[in-house]
Parts: sequence; structure tokens; C-alpha cells
Amino acid sequence: MQQSPIIQAQRLTYEFISHDNHIRVLENLNLSIFAGEQVAIIGSSGSGKSTLLSLLAGLDVPSSGSVQILNKSFSSLDEDGRAAIRASSMGFVFQSFQLLPSLTALENVMLPLQLKNHPHAKELSSGALNKVGLSARVLHYPKQLSGGEQQRVAIARAFATQPAILFADEPTGNLDNATGQVIIELLFKMNAEAGTTLVLVTHDAVLANRCQRQLKLVNGVLNEVVTA
Ligand SMILES: Nc1ncnc2c1ncn2[C@@H]1O[C@H](COP(=O)(O)OP(=O)(O)O)[C@@H](O)[C@H]1O
Ligand SMILES: [Mg+2]
Repeated sequence: MQQSPIIQAQRLTYEFISHDNHIRVLENLNLSIFAGEQVAIIGSSGSGKSTLLSLLAGLDVPSSGSVQILNKSFSSLDEDGRAAIRASSMGFVFQSFQLLPSLTALENVMLPLQLKNHPHAKELSSGALNKVGLSARVLHYPKQLSGGEQQRVAIARAFATQPAILFADEPTGNLDNATGQVIIELLFKMNAEAGTTLVLVTHDAVLANRCQRQLKLVNGVLNEVVTA
């Protein structure tokens, strides 16, 4: 029996109106990602990569077309329903880290677990921060941490809930090269250990090359990149 995709987008179109012009970012886009795959979504700046990621994660809704995650269709769900799927099945790592400034590193990692009423939120979060090498920084606030350290906290937060899918959008975009390299090694190591499905948005060809599959977004359409 053929396995069904963990993420499936069908005829996805996303457009908006700007100064009376219809601007189409994504056009009838189809995509299937299977459990455990590592997929890079590449394309030039402004090609619609972040828009696509938002639709796949149910953070935004398409103009037309459908997204199914774990065999559940987003179109049958309201924002609360989509948020529930995000909380149960997805982790996120963004370019801008997106930590809450008023919470310590530990509290930031604990938050998604607490929202799920996880009984061992604190232990799991300490463990995750330990894994990313920040056990000495758990009580520090984001502003007391470097960019690389903040991204480590975000990675710990993303993996602590043991998500089925990890979405990463330009995770090294705000870091210098050396720090970015360390973050990528960490991200791939954590991902391999957990067997998480990885959807990585990047314009960095070297980074994309580390994924099993590369999909290139050009003029609103995704094309499989054939790699050697
Ligand atoms: N709601 C919107 N209103 C205006 N412009 C938008 C909207 N959504 C997306 N865009 C535009 O769509 C294009 C694709 O954006 P984005 O998905 O962020 O691209 P990428 O992540 O590949 O750089 C950009 O030109 C962006 O400005
Ligand atoms: Mg983007």
C-alpha cells in the first residue's frame, strides 16, 4: 500500500490586490511531502517561499486550492482548528527567532508544552536546552543572548514538542556565516535524531543541498530540482 503524504497541497493559488492590480504569488501549485522527508524550498527573494510555508502551516489561507496535513484538510477548519494542528504536529524556526522577550529561555521553550498541558513541560524543556548546549543559559532573557543562542532556544522550543513536521524559514538569515553553519549542523542533527519531516525554506544553495529533495519556486509554480 502506498503511504499517503504527510503534507499535500492541491491547486494552491494565492493572490492579493495591490493598487487595483491582482498579484498572483502562487498559481495552481501542487506538492506532496512524505513523512520523514527533508525538503528544501528554494527560489529567489520575493518568489513566494514564505507565503507557501504560511499556507502549508495554516498560518494563512489560500485564495483557492487546498492543504492537507496528516490527512486533515485545513479548509474544513477555522483558525482555532488550524492552531490546534500546529500545536500538536508542527514546530517552527524563523529567521527572526521569534522568542517572547519577557520570558526566559526556559519559559520560551516551555510555552508550547504548557499550552498543550504537558505534565512534564519543565523537564522536557530543560532537556531540550541541554541538547542545544544552553543548559547554563536557561534563566537568561532573549536580549541577554546572542543571535546564535536565541536561534538555539528557538530550535529547542521547536523540537521539545516532538512535532511531526518542522518548518524552518531562512533559519540562518540573521546570523553570520560561522554561526549559521553551527546552527545548521544542530538543526540537521536534531532532525535526524527525531526523524522529523523537515520543510526548509532557503535561498542558500549549500543549505538546500543538504536536503533529500529540492523544490524550486519560479513564477508561482514549484519544480522538482534534479540533483546529482
Ligand atoms: N498580502 C500581501 N500584500 C502585499 N504583498 C504581498 C502579500 N503577500 C505576499 N506579498 C508579496 O508576495 C511576494 C512573495 O513574498 P514572500 O512569500 O515573502 O517571498 P519570499 O519568502 O520567497 O522572499 C513578495 O513580493 C511580497 O511582497
Ligand atoms: Mg521569505
